[in-house]
Amino acid sequence: ATELNAIAQQLGKLYFGTATDNPELTDAAYTAILNDRNMFGQITAANSMKWDATEPARGQFTFAAGDVIANLAKTNGQLLRGHNCVWHQQLPSWVSNGGFSKADLLSIVGTHCGTLVGHFKVAWDVVNEIFNDDGTIRQDVFSQTTGMDFIATAFRAARAADPNAKLYANDFNIEGPGVKATAYQNLIRTLKSQGVPIDGIGMQSHFIVGELPANIKQNIQDFVNLGVEVAITELDVRMTLPATAALLAQQEKDYQTVIQACNEVPGCIGVTLWDFTDKFSWVPGTFAGQGAACPWDENLALKPAFTGIVNGFSS
Ligand code: G3I
Repeated sequence: ATELNAIAQQLGKLYFGTATDNPELTDAAYTAILNDRNMFGQITAANSMKWDATEPARGQFTFAAGDVIANLAKTNGQLLRGHNCVWHQQLPSWVSNGGFSKADLLSIVGTHCGTLVGHFKVAWDVVNEIFNDDGTIRQDVFSQTTGMDFIATAFRAARAADPNAKLYANDFNIEGPGVKATAYQNLIRTLKSQGVPIDGIGMQSHFIVGELPANIKQNIQDFVNLGVEVAITELDVRMTLPATAALLAQQEKDYQTVIQACNEVPGCIGVTLWDFTDKFSWVPGTFAGQGAACPWDENLALKPAFTGIVNGFSS
């Protein structure tokens, strides 16, 4: 097939990539596609670098599963995005149970982020999903204990651990203009005014067929104008099953739309699928009756969405 990373790089993008997950790596037909760096020049661990997987008890770091993904990227000649340092989900109970003083939790956050970023030398989603859809700060153990201070602590620790890693804030529902995108733009201004290092915004891009936000390109440009890079970090376009020809045709258009928007803004540096095949998509496990969100189907055959990606890079 046409090779997506090769196309993206020819156009000046840094990579076209995909998420993957450790249990999937025993599937030889799957890894034959995954390991082709001309198809995927970048990978993200869907789970094995999260807090519950890396620091299950305070100060006890376990990198075995994450290292499998990091070593795979190295073997394949692929870039690696680290996902993630601070998130309200997939926390070990010693963190989510709370009960810390503010100073203690900031120390915990700094140690966690610094250790992860120091170990895996890559681009990192330093904070993930910290705002609600209405643009207010999400209420979780981090904000309830430290206010907004955990954010600067996380970014500073990450920078101290690796001066070269690109440090991102990552979220969904910020792909189009709106109050949540504005909240991130205000955060970027605030952090930069305080000298806190933030390099990028990750637009997760978990879309629904036929429901893409308008003005994705302008929204990406608005972020780039604030002095950060943008990456599409978790792209998929789900539908209510069964997948009909009409839904698959609309999905093709939707993939094309988002790829074209990134392609047209130089500061949009790369695109990552949240896994490339319906066989391993997170969607059916989370949204009952929905799925078929990826460009490869459950049998690893290409869907019309793949053509949409190719066309997005050429239009
Ligand atoms: O590891 C256990 C396993 O021991 C157990 O047998 C199995 C039974 O359900 O669960 C396994 O854990 C699952 C884990 O994935 C690893 O497969 C969890 O139940 C499941 O909830 C978890 O889902 C992940 C989800 O994040 C958690 O919120 C998805 O794989 C992962 O793709 C998804 O990724 C998130 C991004 O990190 C952030 N943005 C949204 C995106 C989609 O939800």
